[in-house]
Amino acid sequence: MFIGGNWKMHGSKSMIAELVEGWKNANVKTDSEIFIAPPACYLEYLRDIFPAEWKTGAQNCYKEPKGAFTGEITPAMIKELGGEYVVLGHSERRWVFGEDDALIAEKTKFALSEGLGVILCIGEKLEERESGATKDVVVKQLEAVKAQIGDADWANIVVAYEPVWAIGTGKTATPEIAQETHLWIREWFTSAISSDAAMAVRIIYGGSVKPANCDDLGKQPDIDGFLVGGASLKPDFTAIMATNFSS
Ligand code: PGA
Repeated sequence: MFIGGNWKMHGSKSMIAELVEGWKNANVKTDSEIFIAPPACYLEYLRDIFPAEWKTGAQNCYKEPKGAFTGEITPAMIKELGGEYVVLGHSERRWVFGEDDALIAEKTKFALSEGLGVILCIGEKLEERESGATKDVVVKQLEAVKAQIGDADWANIVVAYEPVWAIGTGKTATPEIAQETHLWIREWFTSAISSDAAMAVRIIYGGSVKPANCDDLGKQPDIDGFLVGGASLKPDFTAIMATNFSS
């Protein structure tokens, strides 16, 4: 199980210190991996005060090792600050900053080749869900990445299904809607990669996850964790860290 927090553009050293102090006695299940992506400038600070077994990483990176790319960071920088993962393809990168499937796939390929794990975010917009296009959208997003990487690389990817209409809106996908889409994603792995890859991949849900809904979501057989935005900036994120998953 993989329980990640994406702090987006929030935080300060004092806020991080207080939050992490309050989380130290969290009742994390032994098979759950905890991960936080702070703003990149706080990566080293968070690493220094975080419990050793919890992971950190960045919210984005570029597809080149260095160069004239103002404002970007490269995987080696993330690793040097103790980061083990990078979140790629988040809907805010796609829809606020205009990243397309091909760029996200290139970044995924590069981050993996540099030794980072990738949390690959996919998900449909509201109009796509309403028109019945969800499955096609998530498959297209996965196919774009498949075109750039080898089958074995999927072992280092966590897939985050995050319906765009549920992110930061307070509207969570019902456990049934989330489960249905997670199953489509797992079926895609079976047919496009292998049944071993389908069994091994962690498919996590994101979009208004909070203490009040994490247990119901976690009961679904194909939900293997969460990517949490707003609720990961709160003391009671510990309740989400303690989720009992069914599988
Ligand atoms: P939210 O964000 O939990 O605030 O909806 C989720 C995300 O953006 O990953």
